Amino acid sequence: MQLQEILYTQGFGTRRVCAGLVQQGYVIIGGAVIADPSADIDVAGLQFTVQGKAWEYHDKAYLMLHKPSGTECSQKPSTYPSIYTLLPSPLRLRPNKGAVQGVQAVGRLDQDTTGLLLMTDDGHFIHRMGSPKHHVPKVYEVTTKHPVDAAQVDKLLAGVVLDDDPKPVRAAACEATGELQLRLTLTEGKYHQVKRMVAAVGNRVEALHRSRIGSLVLTDALPAGQWRWLAADEVEALRSSR
Ligand code: URA
Repeated sequence: MQLQEILYTQGFGTRRVCAGLVQQGYVIIGGAVIADPSADIDVAGLQFTVQGKAWEYHDKAYLMLHKPSGTECSQKPSTYPSIYTLLPSPLRLRPNKGAVQGVQAVGRLDQDTTGLLLMTDDGHFIHRMGSPKHHVPKVYEVTTKHPVDAAQVDKLLAGVVLDDDPKPVRAAACEATGELQLRLTLTEGKYHQVKRMVAAVGNRVEALHRSRIGSLVLTDALPAGQWRWLAADEVEALRSSR
């Protein structure tokens, strides 16, 4: 692929801006400046730097973000900073069918919820992961206001009725992990679902952290506020999780 096209697809600006970055000697591949915008470069596993910043070529972008508390998942936040400010600008400027679109969050977490959030520019992936039909399990670590008891766990597993739907929603798995701690697995994502389910059994969520989606686990290796690319096998495992 032509070098200027590579930069364009990765979100470094318009084709004209990308050609300019190359011509000005800002793009380095394998230790050498490549100043010809139409140089033909193999994109497989390509790593390069643009104005000193290292980048990896990805045909589609799939990443995980450790969402910190006090951030909104909206592009146009009302009160708190947007999670999108935690991403480098190429991820926000990647073109999609000619328009600047960037990566999008796969579902949303509340502003005070922390933890694992997937982001991508692959619309099919967003649809698949968000669809209740596919039952992708999401694991939440809940800190409660009142002690957790066996009756609450049983009710969450049996199903509780929330105010917007007469059909009960149940946790796919639920266990007490401490006096004020619950681990809850859900396969759907209704608005404020964990908080409303916990309230429905007479307790209250004090803090909420998503620790896992399908087979993908958020570990201490990724601190709050940081993101990383997903490996191809992690994306495949998510696609086939249910
Ligand atoms: N359930 C909630 O109540 N809040 C979240 O952020 C995620 C799930």
